[in-house]
Amino acid sequence: MSADDGVIGTNDDASSCKRFAVDKGYWHDPFISLLIPKATSRKAPEISRGYYARVKGIQILIEHFLRMTNCNCQIVNLGAGFDTMFWRLHEEGLTPKCYVEVDFEQVTARKCHYIKSKKTLLEALSGEDSEIMMSKTEIHSGSYHLVSSNLRNVGSLESKLTACDVDRGLPTLFLSECVLVYIETEHTDKLVKWVADSFPTAFFINYEQVNMGDSFGEVMIENLKTRDCLLSGVAACASLDTQMNRFLTRGWTGGDAMDMKTLYRCLPQADLQRIERLEMLDERELLDQLLSHYCLVWAYKDTRDIGLHTISIS
Ligand SMILES: C[S@@+](CC[C@H](N)C(=O)[O-])C[C@H]1O[C@@H](n2cnc3c(N)ncnc32)[C@H](O)[C@@H]1O
Repeated sequence: MSADDGVIGTNDDASSCKRFAVDKGYWHDPFISLLIPKATSRKAPEISRGYYARVKGIQILIEHFLRMTNCNCQIVNLGAGFDTMFWRLHEEGLTPKCYVEVDFEQVTARKCHYIKSKKTLLEALSGEDSEIMMSKTEIHSGSYHLVSSNLRNVGSLESKLTACDVDRGLPTLFLSECVLVYIETEHTDKLVKWVADSFPTAFFINYEQVNMGDSFGEVMIENLKTRDCLLSGVAACASLDTQMNRFLTRGWTGGDAMDMKTLYRCLPQADLQRIERLEMLDERELLDQLLSHYCLVWAYKDTRDIGLHTISIS
């Protein structure tokens, strides 16, 4: 047993909620069933709507970044778990020059195993004229890399990214989706600063909890504790201001932060009408309460002035 086992286990929870929502038709993802078994339990409609807003919000920002840079850019997915973003972007013809996924080796080892055994997943990596190098826990191919590292150790992350030929001169997007909240603030502060100091043209997207000082937040913290999962980084999740300030005080020039209740309402109306017909919702308040306790934060540093400040949800 390691102290991080509970946190590592959150990948299975997130993955199975995503798989459930995809099977229900909330969004299109033909790759998720290749990595994640069918969910064994039903998920409440508000959970699936929350995941829908999370996936859509992140997708809007990432696609904006890829189109702005004509894909001449890099994406580093921190704590990627079993995320399928690389394959979804590849399917849309939006593959960046370099896409790196980072997680604990317990997670990357399982992901490696699934990728190796699924032709569809492998084909997306072998589309280029380059060799695929695989170990038990890591994959290196033309544009896709899967590496193991503890994000608390910036030195290790730095050398792993170097091994992926990450080019600090290229516009680079860092994504952390429900990850930083599990890591002590002293470490995430260092990480956020290191990215700003090392990448002159960078965009950071962070999705996680917010407004955690109220009773809903306390219940969430206690529930996770019973599953040996500590929200060690919860101090930064007090408000949208604390979320934003961790970037603005560590080398980032600007950005924005939106709670998911606000973001949900900014999503295209036709899409919302479609997903709201998929399952009946008994109480709208439950959904609103859940959405107000998560947020999407983005920050940029745009030394080359390529227009990163224009990237937004609407
Ligand atoms: C809730 S899951 C989210 C997975 C994925 N980002 C998603 O949203 O589907 C959190 C992920 O962060 C990873 N993680 C948390 N702390 C980490 C650390 N210190 N180093 C590397 N990975 C970490 C976990 O192993 C897990 O895969």
